[in-house]
Amino acid sequence: MSLVVFPFKDEDPAVAIANIRTAAIHPRVSFVLCVGSSGDDTFGLIEAAVSEVGRQTGVPVHTLVQMRMGLRRPGKGDAMNTALAWFLAEGDFERVHFYDADITTFSGTWISKAERAADEGYPAVRHYFPRSSTDAMITWFITRPGLAKLWPGTVLPKIRQPLGGELLFTREVVQHLADDPAVVAQSDWGIDTRLTLSVGAGGFPVAEVYIPEGKLHKLYGSLTDIEDMAVECFSAVREARGLEVSAEIDHRVDDPSRVGETMRTKVAYSVEDTVGLLSEGWTDVQVEMLGHFPSAVRDGMLAGREDPAVDFLGHELWGEVYDVALARFDSADDDWRSLLFRVWVARVLSYTAREAVKGYDSAISYLQATIARYEAEAQ
Ligand code: LAC
Repeated sequence: MSLVVFPFKDEDPAVAIANIRTAAIHPRVSFVLCVGSSGDDTFGLIEAAVSEVGRQTGVPVHTLVQMRMGLRRPGKGDAMNTALAWFLAEGDFERVHFYDADITTFSGTWISKAERAADEGYPAVRHYFPRSSTDAMITWFITRPGLAKLWPGTVLPKIRQPLGGELLFTREVVQHLADDPAVVAQSDWGIDTRLTLSVGAGGFPVAEVYIPEGKLHKLYGSLTDIEDMAVECFSAVREARGLEVSAEIDHRVDDPSRVGETMRTKVAYSVEDTVGLLSEGWTDVQVEMLGHFPSAVRDGMLAGREDPAVDFLGHELWGEVYDVALARFDSADDDWRSLLFRVWVARVLSYTAREAVKGYDSAISYLQATIARYEAEAQ
């Protein structure tokens, strides 16, 4: 039987509780665990509601305070690692599923599809979703280029959504993850990336199941969240350099269906709110650090402080920025964090101005081609 885990933080309790109920009534699920920080307002509300869900469904539903397990900023990674440790210590579950608690399109089918892939022999199953062409900007510009550059020829550059948090692992994979000090240390937003890497290093076959209705959830609260996420995902990739991953891992991907009109035309972020980031928050040290990058990047970033209509940062230049950051980035240095974030913003805006405007199919093909190119160049 399977355990379903919802890591949560400041969610709409009604959405979270509906999802908990959906999981609890699934025939494969024998326990639901919600892991969050006791300081969050939502924690008490969810805690108060879950025993009722448990009574109604006959499936135990527990809340658990996330333990301080990692070495990075305390965040989602601590919640997921707390759940992995609990899985091994407390029960004889065969499988664990993770789902974000704030998804408004969640249904029992998500659980069934993952269970089916596991029944067919895949010990690691990842859900993947249609995304709009201006969504997944960390995935396309931070995580996937890094996986392509550092692990070419392996399964890693092929994973559709390597920072997705909707996952199934069998007990064997859970044991491998809980035994990996780099996973346990990754307490921040880097956890999803780190799990992808560690499953890859473990050599486990991976299936990616497609969820056509997409993952609708609350938008990222603030740009600070996105800044932390971008930087923490980059750090997770960078710190894993040298990890050995076999080129022979079995990988199956469901065919996606045609992406619906809403997703094809949706703009996932506000250009207006974003352009300001190019002019704000510069320090003299950061201006000096621009000297590490190709001169076109330095000049473009400096010009962007006055005129944020940037389109200078194409995939080749971004590849060079990425290599510089792999060599020199220091996650303990606030200037580096802020500068990397701002150059990433310039990359997102350049892509939007040059490629996303050409329409959904063209933009997605372009993004896929950039990953293939980074991978080919690294081989
Ligand atoms: C991504 C996050 C930001 O996939 O949604 O890039």
